[in-house]
Order: sequence, then structure tokens, then C-alpha cells
Amino acid sequence: MSHSETFFDYRDLITGVDTKIPLKNGKLVPAINFDNAATTPPFNYVIEKINSFLPYYSSIHRGNGFKSKLSSDAYEMSRDIVCNFVHCDPQKNTVIYVNNTTGAINKLSYIFNNLYKNSIILSTRMEHHSNDLPWRSKFKMDYVEVDELGKLKLSDLKYKLKKHHGKVKLVCVAGASNVTGYKNPIYTIAKIAHHYGAEILVDGAQLVPHYPIYMQQKSKEESIDYLAFSAHKMYAPFGIGVLIGPKNTFSNAPPEYSGGGTIKVVTDNSVLWDDPPGKNEAGTPNVLGVTALVSSIKVLNKLSLNSIDKRESDIYNYTLNKMLQLPDITIYGDTNPGCDKVAILPFNIKGLHHETTAKLLSDLSGISVRSGCFCAHPYVQRLLELSPEEINYFKTHFNNFRPGIVRLSFGLYNTYNEVDILIDTLKKIIKNKK
Ligand SMILES: Cc1ncc(COP(=O)(O)O)c(C=O)c1O
Repeated sequence: MSHSETFFDYRDLITGVDTKIPLKNGKLVPAINFDNAATTPPFNYVIEKINSFLPYYSSIHRGNGFKSKLSSDAYEMSRDIVCNFVHCDPQKNTVIYVNNTTGAINKLSYIFNNLYKNSIILSTRMEHHSNDLPWRSKFKMDYVEVDELGKLKLSDLKYKLKKHHGKVKLVCVAGASNVTGYKNPIYTIAKIAHHYGAEILVDGAQLVPHYPIYMQQKSKEESIDYLAFSAHKMYAPFGIGVLIGPKNTFSNAPPEYSGGGTIKVVTDNSVLWDDPPGKNEAGTPNVLGVTALVSSIKVLNKLSLNSIDKRESDIYNYTLNKMLQLPDITIYGDTNPGCDKVAILPFNIKGLHHETTAKLLSDLSGISVRSGCFCAHPYVQRLLELSPEEINYFKTHFNNFRPGIVRLSFGLYNTYNEVDILIDTLKKIIKNKK
């Protein structure tokens, strides 16, 4: 059986997987998407479920009619499905819907700002801006450094937690990096954080769609306190994201947004807030987003995240192996095939600007990749080993061929045949570069 046949069933699950797009020369070819870390295409099942739900679609918590009750019940029941998917404790935790990971982390940062104003937040130099900037604007920060391969230094985590004498309230860390794909040892990090009196937030944007996560561990010390993720990266568009955390945290602080849906009683001069999650979901909820999310979870569970991880690792290793044989390619991070990663491969062609490589891949073969700094500037600056002078220069000349990387990120439906087209195209680009 050929490699591409192995993936046939997986391709059948995806909407638009064979959409034809024009190359620069006008020829129509099937689009190849190696940009799944940004957004994945939808599962067919998700679209079918949305379409079958739409005739019943109605207001959530804002009506007594049959459709409104049905929609509201579906919305509320979804929380258990999400909680089960990431193995959280439903007694202790609440599942709050937001727009995306960025919304989730901003929300948590407001709550923490209310509860723990003078504490320190410990983020890392690997983070997406969404797990750095919301904290930066409100707290004194410190960052766990990365080593020369871009991996988190656990010794620095311990050092910084110790140095701040129990003032670190939260350690914010990516479950997997959106630049190198490294899976961070989140349960070990949880144990270390808890030992020093801090809690842990895992930014699950790049981990949850690709690998099982167990928020509740056998030992409390290793359990994950807060988790954020986005449905649009897990084959479920329609604008929903998730924030999970202890009910107590959200009960103890006022909501960052107030208005319809957040209260039990309002009088002329008083407000009695609802319990979480209602308190933390101001305005009319996004039931279509939630329908998409639970439908996608159903498919991911059926396929099993362990099998998905295996498939994606296989295609990553196949690509890595081929790329390592090409001349003039720099691959960033650990190129050991045994490295614990999600399927993300950052590279550059020597002597070619990252934007040029990305454009040529699209123009010549209809291949989508992302290039640049991937909303993780401090991390990419380290991977590229930029000097302080270079970083300063690009602060004021940011449109001037700014430094960056080309990123391949795989989804469960990508094929070996697509990788072969990528490799042939890279060969052409390398051969013809001046
Ligand atoms: C690791 C990580 N965190 C957070 C985000 C932000 O996700 P969203 O744009 O869905 O808010 C991303 C998006 O790429 C990401 O990769």
C-alpha cells in the first residue's frame, strides 16, 4: 500500500481538501495546506452537524420556546463533553466559552489581576504573544529561558520560582510550541510550579488538536489548573474557544465583561453575579461554535488522538528526513526524529528571504505555509540568534525584509504525496536561486 493510500480515509473527513487553486502560471491544481497550526479546514461531520442543527437554532438562555430550550440544552450539555475530552475534573472546574485562545488568556489575566494584583507571572521565552502580552500589560513578569535548541530550561524555571520567594502566582506555558512544535513537559512543570506555590496555565492551542491532554492527574501536584484552546485549530470553525479552570477562581472575582447573561439579580443599585460559567460569558452565547466544537471532538475521539499523533509524527519524520538531504536548508530546533514534538517543521533556504520561499511555494505548486515570526517574536529572535543590534534595527525598520522562518505544520489529512510535491518544489527553488 502506498503512503498516500494510507491516508485516504483521513482525507475523506475534510471539507475542501481537493479544492483547486490557480498557480502563478494560471494552471489549476489541488491546494496543499501545510499551515494547519494557523487554522485547520473543517471536518465534513462538523459542517453536517451545523446544517442539521440550523433548523432548530435559536436563542440561548433567552427564550421558553421549544427551539430555544433545545439550543440551550445542547449548549449546556456540551461543557461535559469538552471537560471529558481534556480529562478535567467537572466537580472542581468550569468550562467557559470564549472566542479563541487569545480571548481565553485575556479573560484569565483580568481575573488574576483582580485577585492577585501584586503577584508575579512567570511566562516563557517560547510563548505565542497571546500567552505573554495579556500578562505583560497587568503584572510584573519574568520568563523561563530556552536553550540553544529552543527547548525550555527546567533548571531556569526552578531558579526563577525560587528567586521570587513564592510571589509567582501563575506559570504560563505552551502545551506545544507553534514555532518548533516542541511538546513541553507540562505535568512536570505543574509539579514544579505547585511546589513553589504557583498555579499553571497551559496554552493548549497547538497541543489539544494533536495529542491527548489529562488536566486531572493521579497526583494533584501534577494536575493542570487552567487550560486554553481554540476550536478553529481542531477542524471546527465558527469562532469558539475554551477556558477551563477552577470554579473558585471565577466565583471570587467580578467578570471582566458584564451585561446580559452574567447576573442572578440586578436592582437599581446592586448586582448579584451569576455563578461561573454564566458569569463569565457576557452576551448571547455562540451555540454554532459550540456545536462545531463538540462535533469535532466526536471525530477526534473516534480517530483517537494517539493515532492522530502517530500519523502526524510519521509524516513529519518523512518530511524531515527528505529535507535533511536537501542542500542549503536550515532547519531550526532539534532534528532528532525521536524529539517529542507536534508535527511542525521550521526552516529557511539559505540566501532566500522567508517570504520569498513561502510565495514561491504557493506560486509554483499551490502549497500554503506560513512565514515570519508566528506571533512569537522573542522566541524566533532566539532561534535565529539575532544580536541585540539586529533586533533594535528591525524594531524601527519592521517592513524591511524583517527576519523570519518558514513553517510547515501538518494536519491529520496531509499525505506523503503532498510532501513529495513540496520536496520537488524546494529542489527547484534551491536550484534556481541566485
Ligand atoms: C501556541 C498558540 N497560542 C495561542 C494562539 C492564539 O490562538 P487564537 O488566534 O486562536 O487566539 C496560537 C495561534 O496560533 C498559538 O499557536
